[in-house]
Amino acid sequence: MNKIAVIAGDGIGKETVPEGLRVLDAAARKFSLDLQWDHFDFASCDYYAKHGQMMPDDWKDQIGGHDAIFFGAVGWPDTVPDHVSLWGSLLKFRREFDQYVNLRPCRLMPGIPSPLVGRKPGDIDFYVVRENTEGEYSSVGGRMYEGTDREVVFQQSVFSRAGTDRILKFAFDLAQSRPKKHLTSATKSNGISITMPYWDERVVEMAKNYGDVKVDKFHIDILTAQFVRNPQWFDVVVASNLFGDILSDLGPACTGTIAIAPSANINPERLFPSLFEPVHGSAPDIAGRGLANPIGQIWCGSMMLEHLGHPEAGAAVLTAIEKVLEAGPKNAPFTPDMGGTASTSDLGRAIAEAVAAA
Ligand code: NAI
Ligand code: MG
Repeated sequence: MNKIAVIAGDGIGKETVPEGLRVLDAAARKFSLDLQWDHFDFASCDYYAKHGQMMPDDWKDQIGGHDAIFFGAVGWPDTVPDHVSLWGSLLKFRREFDQYVNLRPCRLMPGIPSPLVGRKPGDIDFYVVRENTEGEYSSVGGRMYEGTDREVVFQQSVFSRAGTDRILKFAFDLAQSRPKKHLTSATKSNGISITMPYWDERVVEMAKNYGDVKVDKFHIDILTAQFVRNPQWFDVVVASNLFGDILSDLGPACTGTIAIAPSANINPERLFPSLFEPVHGSAPDIAGRGLANPIGQIWCGSMMLEHLGHPEAGAAVLTAIEKVLEAGPKNAPFTPDMGGTASTSDLGRAIAEAVAAA
């Protein structure tokens, strides 16, 4: 049995999460899985309105024992400033549950036009593995002589051996599990002359354990260009926090709409629950009207099944999404963002039916 904490959050999260659960329930029936959903109303701006904080003090006890967190979106800027809602919820999960891997698939799906001319499904199919807990995003630094001509500002990057090795190990394991067995490291050792040569050294060291994985590296500047020019070159791309942040927006952007892109924040040792959420936010401009595309949320469900040790069920959900997308807006219920007129739940139901029929 898998116990999963479900947090819909704000805005369209309340519409996409039920569709995610609908499809996951279909997969559970099909593959005889026992998935238990525990719903929580915190990590939302509604909760904030009632309680003056985003989460209860004992949030960690309430969800820390679950196998995973299935998350919608958080944010309602009309009532709660975004930095308050984000730092009071998602960022706490990432840090306190040591979700040091941020994983984003970049896969061009059938029926979704790529902004890159002439690309078809199969041409773009890789993962970005982003370090999520240290690197350039540190709290070490400060300001001196504020407001004077001598004003000076420092912020230190932090690359620990343990922190670097654990993200590299995850990325190498992932590369080894895929047919192409190809890992690309994002670096900038020509310009950032202390931390990035260290990163490169650790890549060389880790590669010794993975003789069957082909390894290459690119400086981050040319790497962004190659994402656009030659996305077919990539299989697993591993990067520090800052470089990974940039790549994990650019990669999915090359595959079309953000409404379908999923992401996972993973604690690979499973000491804490990992969190699965779509890339998009709460979309206040369309919330509450049944217009949201639920595919990003449903795809997260596929990643979650894989993480929970149900790879067949995860693959079946992804295949069901592809089947429905392949049918096109004339034959399948597409939401308005993809050129259709169907509702969030019409599309969710179609994908659930495709899972059941597989
Ligand atoms: P957003 O992703 O919510 O929306 C950007 C645009 O894409 C909007 O026009 C929206 O209608 C559209 N869109 C997004 N998801 C869609 C879907 N599933 N189907 C159809 N259209 C979709 O980003 P925005 O507007 O910058 O942020 C809105 C709120 O969401 C803010 O409070 C922000 O802090 C929060 N946010 C939360 C995230 C999270 O929970 N991880 C991530 C990004 C933003
Ligand atoms: Mg970002």
